[in-house]
Amino acid sequence: MSGASHVATDLARVADALRARGGRLGEPLHMLVETGSTNDDAKAGARAGAPHGAVWIAESQTRGRGRQGRAWVSPMGESLLFSVLLRVSCAPARVPPLSLVCGLAVRDAVARALGERDGERALVKWPNDVVVRDRSGAGWRKVAGVLVESALAGAKVEHVVVGIGVNVHTRDFPEELAAIATSVAREAASPPDRAELLADVLASLERDVEQVAHRGLGAVHGRLAAHDALAGRAVEGDDGVLAGTACGIDPDGRLLVRRADGAIARVASGEVRLRVT
Ligand code: BTN
Repeated sequence: MSGASHVATDLARVADALRARGGRLGEPLHMLVETGSTNDDAKAGARAGAPHGAVWIAESQTRGRGRQGRAWVSPMGESLLFSVLLRVSCAPARVPPLSLVCGLAVRDAVARALGERDGERALVKWPNDVVVRDRSGAGWRKVAGVLVESALAGAKVEHVVVGIGVNVHTRDFPEELAAIATSVAREAASPPDRAELLADVLASLERDVEQVAHRGLGAVHGRLAAHDALAGRAVEGDDGVLAGTACGIDPDGRLLVRRADGAIARVASGEVRLRVT
């Protein structure tokens, strides 16, 4: 749908899908054919007084952003691109756990779209990438990413913007991404529906965000551990120093890595990748 002037039918159903689920997230819903970045729209909305739960969703972005300053490029109409404004007043230390929970919410929605047989192949790669394990079990490809940006008011978080990009309908990726990216359509037996995916993500956030913002990971920790792509894998950090075996996520959302000497490193931020041993 290159050059489209309207939203595709699966996205046009979003308002109905959200109404069917109920809940506070997704109201108001700003549906855009094209925008710079839905995260920028949400941040501007936050400054202008938009309420908790407001969502900006677009068919395409001209300046989509990923973590660590990377660009996030998605072909028109093929992805689920949205940002949700969460007005949670919590300690800044709760932002990393919140960011993990957002990855888990997307994982759960992707798992549901993949269906009973394939759903367990959907995993969270710390901190909040969503990946789908190959059927062989040897590797994975990224299906979704999450960009969390927060603003402080004094010593407290004033709001959090959660930006989510899911590869949904894409069948062919550019050469540089073909080995590392996948889409829901490529992994699922039945055609995906972006409205259902969005409604699922928001329903999970609705259930978990307040709890994690005010009481920490708690019960969510077990669900995260059950779908931790890195657990037991040899990893290295992007700092060229960290290397070891990933062995879980602590209650503050830090990745645990056992070094060769047995010491446990707690990684609070940055990225890790699988180490070729
Ligand atoms: C990553 O994996 O690096 C995070 C990617 C986040 C992309 C989404 S798409 C919707 C929202 N708007 C943006 O500009 N970025 C996020």
